[in-house]
Amino acid sequence: MSLGVLYVVVTAAGATRQVPARLLPLAVERGWEVHVLATDQAVSSFPEAMEQIEEFLGRPVRTDFHTAVGYSLPDPDAVIVAPATYNTLTKWALGIADTYVLTRLAEQVGRNIPITAGPYINVKFADHPTYQGSLAILKEWGVNIVIGPREPHESGDGAADDFPWETILDTVTPAST
Ligand SMILES: Cc1cc2nc3c(=O)[nH]c(=O)nc-3n(C[C@H](O)[C@H](O)[C@H](O)COP(=O)(O)O)c2cc1C
Repeated sequence: MSLGVLYVVVTAAGATRQVPARLLPLAVERGWEVHVLATDQAVSSFPEAMEQIEEFLGRPVRTDFHTAVGYSLPDPDAVIVAPATYNTLTKWALGIADTYVLTRLAEQVGRNIPITAGPYINVKFADHPTYQGSLAILKEWGVNIVIGPREPHESGDGAADDFPWETILDTVTPAST
C-alpha cells in the first residue's frame, strides 16, 4: 500500500552520508514514494551521497523547482528534514524562504501534514543563543523534533552511527501501517 509522497530534505551535515543506506530503504519498504530535496551546500559537500540517492531512488535529487529536471514535485503527504543543520533549522524557524529547500519547507508548515526534523548539530552550534528558541518555534508550529541519543555531538566523534533514522520515520508513518 502506498503511503503517499514523502519529502526527505537533506542538508550539509555529516549524517547525510548515511541517508542512502539507512533511511531510504526503510522509507521505501514502508510504502512511501520518496523524493529527496537537498540544499546546495549538501550537494557540494556530499556529492557521493547524492549519486547514491539518485541510484537508489531512480529519480533526481531536487535542488530547484523545475528548471533543471523539467517537472515540479507533487505536494508531499509527509516531510522529514534529516539530518538538519543548525543553519537550515535556524532559517526555517525565522520563516526565511530564500532557497529552494527553505521555500518548500516554509510552504509545508500549516498544511496539516506530519513534518519531522532530526537535528545533527555539534555542541558549538547547540550552544548558540538562538538554537533552543528555533526548536521551540518549530515545535509550536507542529514540527516533530527528534533528538538522537548522541545529540548534540562533538565534531568527528562518529555520532552519525547512532542517528535515529527509524524513530524519525516512525513519527511520520500512520499508526495503522
Ligand atoms: C564536511 C562538513 C560537515 C558539516 N557538518 C555539519 C553538521 O553536522 N551540522 C551542522 O549544523 N553543520 C555542519 N556543517 C556546516 C554546514 O554545512 C554549514 O553551516 C552550511 O552553511 C549549512 O548549509 P545548509 O543548511 O543549507 O545545508 C558541516 C560542513 C561541512 C563542510
